Amino acid sequence: MKYAQVYQNSIEQPEAFWREQASQIDWFKFPQTILSQDANQNDAWFVDGELNTAYLALDYHVDNGRADQLALIYDSPATNSIEKFTFRQLRDKVALLAGVLQNLGVEKGDRIIIYLPMIPEAAMAMLACARIGAVHSVVFGGFAAKELATRIDDATPKLILSASCGIEFSNTIAYKPLLDEAQSIAAHKVDHCVILQRPQCHAELNGTDLDWQVSLASAKPAEIVPLKATDPLYILYTSGTTGKPKGVVRDNGGHAVALNYSMQAVYDAKPGEVFWAASDVGWVVGHSYIVYAPLIYGCTTLLFEGKPVRTPDAGTFWRVIEEHKVNIFFTAPTAFRAIRKEDPESKCLQQYDISSLRTLFVAGERTDPPTYHWLQDILKVPVIDHWWQTETGWPIASNMVGVEATETKAGSASYPVPGYNVQILSAEHEPLAVLGEGDVVIKRPLPPGCLPTVWGDHDRYVDSYLLQHEGYFHTGDGGYFDEDGYLFIMGRTDDVINVAGHRLSTGEMEEIVASHNAVAECAVVGIEDKDKGQIPVGLTLLKDGVNISGDQLEQELVALVRNSIGPFANFKRSMVVQRLPKTRSGKILRQVIRKIADNKPYEAPATIDDPAILDEIQISLVAAGIGLVSER
Ligand code: COA
Ligand code: AMP
Repeated sequence: MKYAQVYQNSIEQPEAFWREQASQIDWFKFPQTILSQDANQNDAWFVDGELNTAYLALDYHVDNGRADQLALIYDSPATNSIEKFTFRQLRDKVALLAGVLQNLGVEKGDRIIIYLPMIPEAAMAMLACARIGAVHSVVFGGFAAKELATRIDDATPKLILSASCGIEFSNTIAYKPLLDEAQSIAAHKVDHCVILQRPQCHAELNGTDLDWQVSLASAKPAEIVPLKATDPLYILYTSGTTGKPKGVVRDNGGHAVALNYSMQAVYDAKPGEVFWAASDVGWVVGHSYIVYAPLIYGCTTLLFEGKPVRTPDAGTFWRVIEEHKVNIFFTAPTAFRAIRKEDPESKCLQQYDISSLRTLFVAGERTDPPTYHWLQDILKVPVIDHWWQTETGWPIASNMVGVEATETKAGSASYPVPGYNVQILSAEHEPLAVLGEGDVVIKRPLPPGCLPTVWGDHDRYVDSYLLQHEGYFHTGDGGYFDEDGYLFIMGRTDDVINVAGHRLSTGEMEEIVASHNAVAECAVVGIEDKDKGQIPVGLTLLKDGVNISGDQLEQELVALVRNSIGPFANFKRSMVVQRLPKTRSGKILRQVIRKIADNKPYEAPATIDDPAILDEIQISLVAAGIGLVSER
């Protein structure tokens, strides 16, 4: 069946469509109710079904002929090591680690924070939680202590699973001081931190800390705990428009069905193939396509601890593809911009045989057309830009190579994936005709796998996603359909920015910048950057009588954001301005500032307080050498 027909079926008969997809996985109890409403009047999938996600990812394959197939390859240029685990080996390690959790009193529904670098134990920890129904919340290793503390207070975990360090090539980052600091900031106290000692750095354990290996030595493998489809599998925090991150909740049943479907229909993978998502388990891509989806589908997944260009040259990705015969590769465009910068003529690629590679998928940010064309030229395989978000957990729009591969267009994520009724609405809720740019929304019901709520704050879920356009899920992205039905996602319409594929809140950065005692008022905007996609820039207004140079303030603000959020926020520039452009009601015109900095046409809104401020901002930006205006 061709894409158009499959898509139409999924929208017109969602229950029949998803019943069929649900039958592709091994339930303990197959759901009789496919789509219903939960207590929050939200759409809920497979409510009376029972299953276990870790069973699907591991035990099912051990019992059905894949026990000796590789489940996980760990390739770490950071430590110069490679390790491989079959499905049986991984299942046994996961069951034992789940036994450690049970020994420490963890039960179904308890939360566990996982703060680990890109090592196999990160995937094992996630699967161990899933095996016994504990709800994991993975925190990206690049986050500073304060961010970790926020997540500890929101998720109120029983335990934290962590390691002695992460490795950023030039730097070994000791995790224990960060963990200790986070725990001293957080109001919630965990029972224990279980720490894996890595050879590169020894952590001093104290008080209630436990050693990972010692804990394993006294554990017995845990049995699988059957779960309801709607029981939470994990909470993953993501940036919203305010300082407090949103805890995106993922269920077990809808998630497993959707991911399994995506492996076939979106990625066109075959069980037994090698699937590599070069991301981090701290992000949604890592959850879905490093850990759960490839394993559920019976693929070998590759977990990579390294960087595309520092290890030791710009050929690392190609080396990994050759060495492990990767069939499907998925990463963020920013990684390729980094490679292209180092090796524009792709000389490194010539040293490797990457003929195993069938398709490249890119996501996390819009793929800029020059990078897209460069990739097509050098790789000679389809390059598929596909769009999704933490909230959905799997792609919303893609070229459906597993259903019907169609021509790709630079800058477009191709078509809506079956199950997602994607539409473009104006601010007045009117559907927009072809080429009309507006809010990209999804008509409810959302397909299985998408978030049912925000952890502990359903009102925030309703406010963030459902109130903007009645009957639709508000994605926060703007875009349009072209005359051929291709979807173009043009960027966020809110105060979320995308820095090197990392989603960040400018609102959160503003709160941090405003906490500096010299700052009276500030705006943080994301401006275009040729390497990172976007970078944040702070515009600050000094308090009366404060005597600090712009350079000094910039240095202090950079350190403040780095220590509060983490270095990956890439907050490196700020400048002092005399006034900020505002509406008469006092709202800062961030979108206009961004357009000025990006050297894009802009219109001053009729409600602007004083249009002359816009010229002042432009002059200040040029003087500070910030943004594209400086290149004029
Ligand atoms: N732990 C600690 N520090 C980290 C970190 C981590 N896990 N990840 C990044 N950092 C630090 C870096 O060391 C760097 O520090 P520095 O300022 O002291 O040099 C800083 O954060 C900037 O990080 P980043 O902008 O990410 O650059 P990078 O060179 O470290 O990595 C990429 C470049 C392309 C590999 C990386 O940005 C990346 O993988 N992006 C894609 C993210 C992603 O997967 N998104 C999901 C969609 S696919
Ligand atoms: P995250 O939740 O971290 O996965 O980030 C999701 C956001 O990244 C989306 O809302 C988009 O703004 C952006 N994004 C992800 N993939 C794409 C893509 N293929 N094209 C354009 N934007 C994308």
